[in-house]
Amino acid sequence: MIQLITGGAGFIGSNYVKKTMEKGDQAIVLDSLTYAGNLENLQPHVNGRNVITCKDRRALTEATVDGNDVTTDLDPAAEREWLLRKLDGRPYVETRSEDAGPAIRTALESEPLVFIQGDIGDAKIVDAALGEADVVVNFAAETHVDRSILEPDKFIKTDVHGTFNLLERCRRHEGLKKFVHISTDEVYGVAEGESEFKETDPINPRNPYSASKAAADRLVHAYNQTYDLPTNIIRPSNNFGPFQHPEKLIPKMIMNALNDEGLPVYGDGKQVRDWLFVRDSAAAVDLVVRHGEVGEVYNVAGNNERTNISVVNSILEHLSKDESLIKHVKDRPGHDIRYAIDDSKIRDQLGFKNEDSFENNLRETIDWYVANERWWRRILDSDEEFRRFNEAWYKERR
Ligand SMILES: NC(=O)c1ccc[n+]([C@@H]2O[C@H](COP(=O)([O-])OP(=O)(O)OC[C@H]3O[C@@H](n4cnc5c(N)ncnc54)[C@H](O)[C@@H]3O)[C@@H](O)[C@H]2O)c1
Repeated sequence: MIQLITGGAGFIGSNYVKKTMEKGDQAIVLDSLTYAGNLENLQPHVNGRNVITCKDRRALTEATVDGNDVTTDLDPAAEREWLLRKLDGRPYVETRSEDAGPAIRTALESEPLVFIQGDIGDAKIVDAALGEADVVVNFAAETHVDRSILEPDKFIKTDVHGTFNLLERCRRHEGLKKFVHISTDEVYGVAEGESEFKETDPINPRNPYSASKAAADRLVHAYNQTYDLPTNIIRPSNNFGPFQHPEKLIPKMIMNALNDEGLPVYGDGKQVRDWLFVRDSAAAVDLVVRHGEVGEVYNVAGNNERTNISVVNSILEHLSKDESLIKHVKDRPGHDIRYAIDDSKIRDQLGFKNEDSFENNLRETIDWYVANERWWRRILDSDEEFRRFNEAWYKERR
């Protein structure tokens, strides 16, 4: 099976690519390499074999959704320089979007994994990649709630319009076996009391990230109902594990603790999240790709509800750091106090289970960040966009 995996250079996507490699499938990764996309995330999963990169200048400068410009404000020379920095000496093939098909086909003859730098909003590059794929798994998204509060437009462009473009191309592509969309438990909004949302409950997103994910989620459903597109929607809870970008709660707290810097906890830290280890998440996606019933939605949880403050305390304890590092900062506006889902459907119907305890998975994650300091220091030291965002966001919360 050949899977087109969008957003495969990100956190969950790259962990899922690893799973597809273990299963002996081939993967075409389509990723625009935003600040969150990192080719290093893919390197270990292909056992040192080359990642083939189809570089596409046109996609960078004039990505279109059925003729409407959706990107970009940088000039082509600056974009090129940016991309070469991201490629960091990796070999690549350069094509135009519409000519990428043959390049992808040739690469697939010798490689298990083909990487394409491109936008899910670019109809031509999506068509080229679809020509070779049996299944599409859509991870590509802007994913950070805090960023969605400062810059919601990017979330509408990628999470809503990008998903719409993918769906449009897929419905015109005969022979596609499955379109699997990665949604989120955040689409349900706040879970009151002890309640847990089931797949049939209404959705009620409350921030620009979850609202754009909800729009995409319902578009996928609509394409199934209207055009008979064979879809599945997966709604996982908070993922954690290796390769998660430093902006997210667990990596941020680990890295700040390792640097003996303050650990910024929103408000009283009593917000409750369910934590799902990323390897379990990847296994759940694999189950749905292979066995999910067409048209169905599946929640996926870790069944590990924790307050943020207790997660932070566990990290400090494991690293033998003092609680005095915790700094309570101004809360995120509209912060949902609790997310909780019932995932008995995927457990009962597809046999999903979590492989290990939250405590062991958290320990493994912390150990990974300790052992892979080079990976995250590179992001902290070289990502200008990340630095600018952090400054703007935390300036308001001191
Ligand atoms: N991380 C979580 O806790 C969590 C929980 C539930 C659902 N999800 C969903 O899972 C998916 C993956 O999340 P993640 O945490 O791995 O995200 P991430 O931010 O680590 O990765 C997102 C990837 O998408 C790519 N991307 C962004 N815009 C793109 C575009 N227009 N075209 C092509 N590629 C683009 C980025 O370069 C990056 O590689 C997302 O859809 C997210 O909403 C995440």
